[in-house]
Amino acid sequence: MKFFLDTADIAEIEEACSWGALSGVTTNPTLYSRVGGKLADFENHIARICEITDGPVSAETVSLQRDEIYAEGMKLAEIADNVVVKVPTMPEGLAATKMLRAQGVHVNMTLCFTVPQAILAARSGAAYVSPFVGRFDDITEDGISQLNDVVVALGNYDFGHDVEVIAASIRSAHHVTQAALMGADIATVPFGVLKQCVKHPLTDRGLESFLADWEKVKNS
Ligand code: G3P
Repeated sequence: MKFFLDTADIAEIEEACSWGALSGVTTNPTLYSRVGGKLADFENHIARICEITDGPVSAETVSLQRDEIYAEGMKLAEIADNVVVKVPTMPEGLAATKMLRAQGVHVNMTLCFTVPQAILAARSGAAYVSPFVGRFDDITEDGISQLNDVVVALGNYDFGHDVEVIAASIRSAHHVTQAALMGADIATVPFGVLKQCVKHPLTDRGLESFLADWEKVKNS
């Protein structure tokens, strides 16, 4: 499974990239707003992220009609070769995805919750499908089980092009474990979850005792 970082925070992306394990970045309007993003800076901001990582960088469209989504997507795709256009799962989004694929633009279909939505996204030409896990948990449904259904269902078919499942709306290292065990292609995680994934109390305890014992060696 590949790790993407789910953030628009440049410092977080630089730090995670320096760890060597990052394969891409996903952003959305909320994440851009959270870093104080301004409309006029948006394209430069995405361009900066695309310089930090050579992996796919998802930038989301905000239009609601197919022609506008398409035009917005084409403009985003011009920012850098590794831009992936994020399009919401809805009929106009499917139509725009078909148009963008015809131009060779990779689409990440977002706000995907169900198996039929995921199959329609793949059929319309999406290169990535993003089922949301945590938002199902938020409404007391089992997001991991929903994600598993999407992974199994998409694995049943050949869509004539590569389709990767991005486990999105990931809230914990436990979600990451479950996504990896079911074979999700990618988990896009907030920086806090990425840090949580590196840590374990037994690692900390082990390091502490190794260092204490090394002090004894040095003083012997
Ligand atoms: O990038 C989309 C998704 O990961 C958002 O997650 O935590 O806002 O549900 P969340």
